[in-house]
Amino acid sequence: MNLIFTLRHFLKAGYYNGHRVHSPNIFNFFKYVIFSKEKFDYSLAENAYAQFRKNRDNITVTTFGAKGGKIKEVKISSLAKKSSSKGKYGRLLQRTANFLQPRKILELGTSLGVGTLYLSAGSPDSKIITLEGCTSIHNLACESFTNHNVNNIEAINSGFDDILEKLIADNQDIDLVYIDGNHTYQATMDYYELFIRRLESGAVLLFDDINWSKGMSKAWREIVKDSKSTVTIETARMGIVFLNPKLTPKHYCTRF
Ligand SMILES: C[S@@+](CC[C@H](N)C(=O)[O-])C[C@H]1O[C@@H](n2cnc3c(N)ncnc32)[C@H](O)[C@@H]1O
Repeated sequence: MNLIFTLRHFLKAGYYNGHRVHSPNIFNFFKYVIFSKEKFDYSLAENAYAQFRKNRDNITVTTFGAKGGKIKEVKISSLAKKSSSKGKYGRLLQRTANFLQPRKILELGTSLGVGTLYLSAGSPDSKIITLEGCTSIHNLACESFTNHNVNNIEAINSGFDDILEKLIADNQDIDLVYIDGNHTYQATMDYYELFIRRLESGAVLLFDDINWSKGMSKAWREIVKDSKSTVTIETARMGIVFLNPKLTPKHYCTRF
């Protein structure tokens, strides 16, 4: 994450831990998700992550997204460290899924499936659809889901753009989307437009890495300004969008 964006974020961010939040739903989201004091069991995703970190094998991957189009050898342990959700952001995913209890969750960018397992543990009754372009990475994620006896995940090996329109048309009851791949300005705006056009009112979008590049920051600022995004919450790294016209429109920039 860009240091200047991070510093700028902390200068303008507030805590909103229960204060200055008038909508009861958003108040509860701050209380029970962002600043939750409850104890959760995060071991499912964290054990999977620890296993990948111990794996010194190499795999051949095809890169997708902003730096796509290359074939290279990577150590599984390094791939896990570099690409997986972990720490407080992984835990935030689990609490978000737990709070929202979505009917269906869509994740763009499975990687090794660590973020998927946080979502699954947070809401075991939801159906989770997760997309990954690289076949060798997708296969490792599927193995991990089987080894951890998780059966609410449908992992699809596909480029996002090859499948997304049809997938969304067939699954308009997706109420939570985690966008964690293809971090370019244009792709982020295209996905946003698609989700606001096709998903039912009440859906929540999580954009990871909103300050990863100038293009991502620009996309996030445009999403915040768009009237259909209703309530938006911004941490230094993640942008959360509530597509619910019943909510009073407001943007919260919060420390987390
Ligand atoms: C940051 S990682 C995902 C991490 C994962 N969501 C987690 O929380 O642990 C991003 C993944 O998205 C995949 N990806 C990026 N752009 C893609 C695209 N256009 N189509 C398919 N997969 C893509 C990459 O191969 C990479 O594995």
